[in-house]
Amino acid sequence: MSGTAGRAAVIAGVGSCLPPRVVGNEELARRLDTSDEWIRSRTGIARRHLVDPGTATAALAVEAGASALKSAGRADVDSVIVATTTPERLCPATAPQVAARLGLAGVAAHDVSAVCTGFLYGLATAAGQIATGLADRVLLVGAEAFSTIVNPADRTTAVIFADGAGAVVLRAGTADEPGAVGPCVLGSDGDLSDLITIPAGGSGHRSRGVPAHPDDHYFQMQGRDVYRHAVERTTEAALAALARAGWRCEDVDRFVPHQANARICAAIAERLDIGSDRQASNIERVGNTAAASIPLLLADEAAAGRLASGDRVLLAAFGGGLTWGATTLTWPELAAVAAPATAAVREPAG
Ligand code: COA
Repeated sequence: MSGTAGRAAVIAGVGSCLPPRVVGNEELARRLDTSDEWIRSRTGIARRHLVDPGTATAALAVEAGASALKSAGRADVDSVIVATTTPERLCPATAPQVAARLGLAGVAAHDVSAVCTGFLYGLATAAGQIATGLADRVLLVGAEAFSTIVNPADRTTAVIFADGAGAVVLRAGTADEPGAVGPCVLGSDGDLSDLITIPAGGSGHRSRGVPAHPDDHYFQMQGRDVYRHAVERTTEAALAALARAGWRCEDVDRFVPHQANARICAAIAERLDIGSDRQASNIERVGNTAAASIPLLLADEAAAGRLASGDRVLLAAFGGGLTWGATTLTWPELAAVAAPATAAVREPAG
């Protein structure tokens, strides 16, 4: 390989983290006008993991990142990217803090903000850094303390969104080796930015100088419209990514979609003609964890032995922005991948 010609990003490690507290549908139904039956039938979710007070995104990201670095067998990277909707603060980004807590202070570190599509935007960014020679090794984390922005009184979002983190380590390699990330397809439509939003807190609201309604500091979603766009856009992106990779739908061994809602995932898989035996899913156990969803699911699938070296994997996601994306990859040869870290989630003392 001379210079950067022919370089591709290759997955070298996977890890994940879930906060220890498990909240079932019945617990939500005790304080919201909803039921286990409604939540299961409309979303496919039975339970989820939520952070305890005092734990936020960086703690989850650090645990998932450490687990991915361990799986990669090397603790050094040149770049850390954190995809999140729930940064520790509006300013600065969360990634430098995560890098420092992993003993990586000094490396490039930045956040990616694309809500539930954040991991795929991050993957495209990481692959670009590797392809251009900006980095040889990248740690990409999708992490969310999403419950911190959910309005506890809003039954339409409180039953769906949850907390967790997943991470991958990418290294420079070649497109024909197991683990190589294929062409990424990304898109957006800012005309529909109001469908998924936190109205207050940013410069748009602050510049008007008018106090915000308390509810406007919470995440808001127009679920029915989101549902329709999610199915259409994600299917289109998946088909475009498959076409660019030169794969047909029947070539896909494992479809790993963002776990938005079980019905959305099923509708997309049906349009792609990918049967349930080839669909990965963990939404029943973890809910919709936004930018953490795909890497959490990859780690789950790997830990359960459902991904073998050379398997052809299709990733696809949709989220606020609106944003959407898809990519292909082949599964790498990895040492045993650990189940999600849970007990070790800790904020630093002080
Ligand atoms: N429990 C009980 N009833 C609820 C409810 C809940 N948790 N949430 C909403 N409802 C009610 C609504 O108020 C509505 O009542 P109405 O008919 O009297 O007005 C009824 O259920 C149907 O609401 P609707 O929003 O049409 O339901 P739906 O079948 O579309 O399901 C979502 C709602 C949110 C599950 C669904 O729209 C969805 O999954 N959207 C996409 C969400 C998503 O994935 N977002 C992330 C994208 S990354």
